[in-house]
Amino acid sequence: MSPSPSPTPTGLRIKSPESLLAESGADLEGHGLKRTMGLFQLVCFGVGAIVGTGIFVGLSDTVAEAGPAVVISFVLAGITCIFTAFSFAELGGAIPVSGSSYSFAYATLGERVAFLVGWCLLLEYGVSVSAVAVGWSQYLNELLNSLIGWQLPEALSAGPGDGGIVNLPAVIVILMAATLLVRGIRESARATAAMAILKIGILIAFCAIGFSAFEAGHLTPFMSAGIGGLTSGASLAFFSYIGFDAITTAGEEVKNPRRNIPIAILICIGVVTLLYCAVAVAAIGALGADAVGDKPAALSLVVNQVTDSTVGGGIIAFGAVVAIASVVLAVMYGQTRILLSMSRDGLIPRVFERVSPKTSTPVANTWIVALVFAVPAAFSSLDAVVNLTTIGTLATMAAVNVAVVALRRSHAGLPRSFRVPLYPLSPALGVAMCLYLIWGTGWTTWVQFVVFLAVGALVYAFYGRRHSRLGEAATPTAGAGAEPREG
Ligand code: ALA
Repeated sequence: MSPSPSPTPTGLRIKSPESLLAESGADLEGHGLKRTMGLFQLVCFGVGAIVGTGIFVGLSDTVAEAGPAVVISFVLAGITCIFTAFSFAELGGAIPVSGSSYSFAYATLGERVAFLVGWCLLLEYGVSVSAVAVGWSQYLNELLNSLIGWQLPEALSAGPGDGGIVNLPAVIVILMAATLLVRGIRESARATAAMAILKIGILIAFCAIGFSAFEAGHLTPFMSAGIGGLTSGASLAFFSYIGFDAITTAGEEVKNPRRNIPIAILICIGVVTLLYCAVAVAAIGALGADAVGDKPAALSLVVNQVTDSTVGGGIIAFGAVVAIASVVLAVMYGQTRILLSMSRDGLIPRVFERVSPKTSTPVANTWIVALVFAVPAAFSSLDAVVNLTTIGTLATMAAVNVAVVALRRSHAGLPRSFRVPLYPLSPALGVAMCLYLIWGTGWTTWVQFVVFLAVGALVYAFYGRRHSRLGEAATPTAGAGAEPREG
């Protein structure tokens, strides 16, 4: 069906929530995506998307930045996510369709903002597929080392920025994830559920070992890096939370989405915040901030020192390999569903919206994503992409907090299974916290991000705006009866 534009007093090209839902419902009767995911699968899917490189690889950098106050950094990042999660929960419960913040922006802030949000999601999902795969590669080598005392040569396991030539394991994990995804959501969700349970178990075991050697003196001086360290630590810590909104990208494959999406998001954020704080306190309490900060495979290091053996560190490395692989899977899934939504809207080429009648999955879309993001995975270092991923994600989250206010104003009567508490204070604090963390990423990242946004604006002007189905539907020949101006 053609999307129906919603004429607005502001003249924005806005797609109505009713239209988004009708498109998703139409697919259910036809050849679109199948609703196979329940609440448990959805929570596992969320944890699978969230817990990975950030805690296993990034914790040591965050500790180096913030000292023992890293716990506050994690809490600040978690609070940012909770405010934003409330907004995601309200929007996901009101408009349960694939596409995440992109769809929400389209229904509230107009096509131009939606395109730019979708563009930023290429950082949050696509670029982080590459980044997370690079993290996986590091831990694979760590695991091989502890199992057989041998690891892949640097030339074949790191990009040029890290002293190698090509990062083959990073490419391989991306291709493996794509293979699972094209075979269908039920199968890949099961694999993700098993991985999520395993990684939570490994982190809980780490905490138990770390707390067995806990010394309160290691937590002082608590604010050793001051407010500046705390703030940049919070921006770094935020990377470990990225991915919770992937739950909303699965909107069209979730059973009873109005109930399950909001509950799953809130459970995921609560669980990982507690887990991250416990891991940070356990690590620092055991060895002290200096021994943990800036160390490769810091979690393995802590366990090896506390247990005086290398077996525990090897088990942690195994957990990291599993955890990070599941993040690659979940994040790549999210990217394909966002592109599918954008393609349905005509803003990017139509190849991304083709769903295979045999597997009910977007096969071409998945392979394009895998091949495109395998390139930076092969040739980039982790650090090069983490800050850009973070700022792109924070920008989309700020937009989501604004979108919740816009939807309340434009569609006050739309059924909502969840309403943000303390409205409008909660979305306002969400925006403020996103800006605070953006500030913490530093000016180099701001400049890169502005350039990236400018390129996105050009792509919209020269492709998206001209091919938009909403724009076509609004022309007099289409008889839509509405002529919104450009949004
Ligand atoms: N939150 C994801 C991770 O830490 C991106 O790997």
